[in-house]
This record gives sequence, C-alpha cells and structure tokens, in this order.
Amino acid sequence: MKKLLKSFFSQCARPEGTLGRLMLRFMNFGHAPLTNWGLSLVAFRPAMTILDIGCGGGATLKRLLKRSDGACVYGIDISEESVAKARQVNADMLNKRVFVCRGTAEKLPYDDEKFDLVTAVETVYFWPNLSHCLQEVGRVLKSGGRFVIMVEVVEGDSVWTDMVGGMTVYSPEQLKDFLDAAGFIHTELYRKKPSYATITGVKP
Ligand SMILES: C[S@@+](CC[C@H](N)C(=O)[O-])C[C@H]1O[C@@H](n2cnc3c(N)ncnc32)[C@H](O)[C@@H]1O
Repeated sequence: MKKLLKSFFSQCARPEGTLGRLMLRFMNFGHAPLTNWGLSLVAFRPAMTILDIGCGGGATLKRLLKRSDGACVYGIDISEESVAKARQVNADMLNKRVFVCRGTAEKLPYDDEKFDLVTAVETVYFWPNLSHCLQEVGRVLKSGGRFVIMVEVVEGDSVWTDMVGGMTVYSPEQLKDFLDAAGFIHTELYRKKPSYATITGVKP
C-alpha cells in the first residue's frame, strides 16, 4: 500500500504517464482551497499580465483569469503532461488569453519586465537552486509587480518528503528570507490552518 501511495504521490514533482494524468486531475481540485485563499490576499486589477510557474493541470490559470478582467495569463511547467492538461483545461481561451509552454523556473523564456504578477503554487519545493529561480522571477516581473508563493507542506512535514523524491521543504519564514535576499521588498507572510502559507514580495 505504502509503495502504491509513494508511486502516486511522487508524481507531484513532475507528472508523467497515466499516474501523472491522474495526479494532475487530483491537484486541480485538491489545491483549490490553498490557491483560492492565497489569491484572495492579492490585489487584482483589470488586464493584468500574469505568469503561473509550475502550472500543473492549469486550474490556477483559470482562477487567475476570473480575477482580472481581460487578463493575459501564461503558464509554464517542466512536465509535458502538465502542459497538455493545462492546455486542455483552458482550451476555450488557449492562445487568446491563456498561453502555456514547457520550460523551467530556472530559465524563464520571457522578456524582462513582462509580468504584473507571478504565482507559484505548491511547486517551489522542486525548483533546483531557489535563489537563482527567484532572480529569474525578478527579471520577468515589472517594477512594482508582485510574486506570490503558496505552499501547504512546511518544514517538519516528513510524511511528504518520505513519499516524494527530490522535494525540499522550506519553512514559510525561510521562504520569506529567500525573497528578501533576492531583493524583493514589502515581503509578507500569511498563515492559515491547517498548514497553508502564502509568501509575497514586490519587485522594487
Ligand atoms: C505539486 S505540482 C503543483 C501544480 C499546480 N501548481 C497546482 O497547484 O496544482 C508541482 C508542479 O511543478 C512542476 N515543476 C517541478 N519542477 C519545476 C521546475 N523546475 N520548473 C517548472 N515547473 C516545475 C511539476 O511538473 C508540477 O506540475
């Protein structure tokens, strides 16, 4: 049983194949409470240009579209399966106001200062060299633009690290320190039970 759970939950890191497709459906619903709470902390305005890194099955892209009238929303993910699912879930707006591509947080294929807002839901655990990735996020954000990290696995939660290989769990305070060190300003940390954390920072 443990082996079965492990092979399913290890799909969080980079969904692939049948189990990966199942995991993407599961995450599109399972991450709704965390994501809706985290997004409720953000001030949206019409026609924003928004990037969701590690977009998974694309539910966050849909949620972002609803919060900013006339927004253009970009999703990027390292997994081919995630990209396919995110495109399918957003088929009605695809290549009109939703754009999804394969790529990594380490090397974002976007121009400098393109985005008003960048989000990362349940994905920073898997980014190699977080400090470098945060520099990339800073590069693609406009001055005054905001970066929003949402996590629900926090330090000490070894159930997940035992199950999912290649996962680095940070405390919310550590993530805030990372944002400060990367040069973000007005960094804020919000907590909600059971273990939700949202960490935000603004590009100067
Ligand atoms: C736990 S899932 C979360 C997906 C989605 N954000 C959600 O909330 O449902 C993590 C996602 O991050 C992606 N990912 C992992 N490492 C990445 C990286 N270095 N760059 C971009 N995406 C990455 C995975 O492929 C996966 O789709």
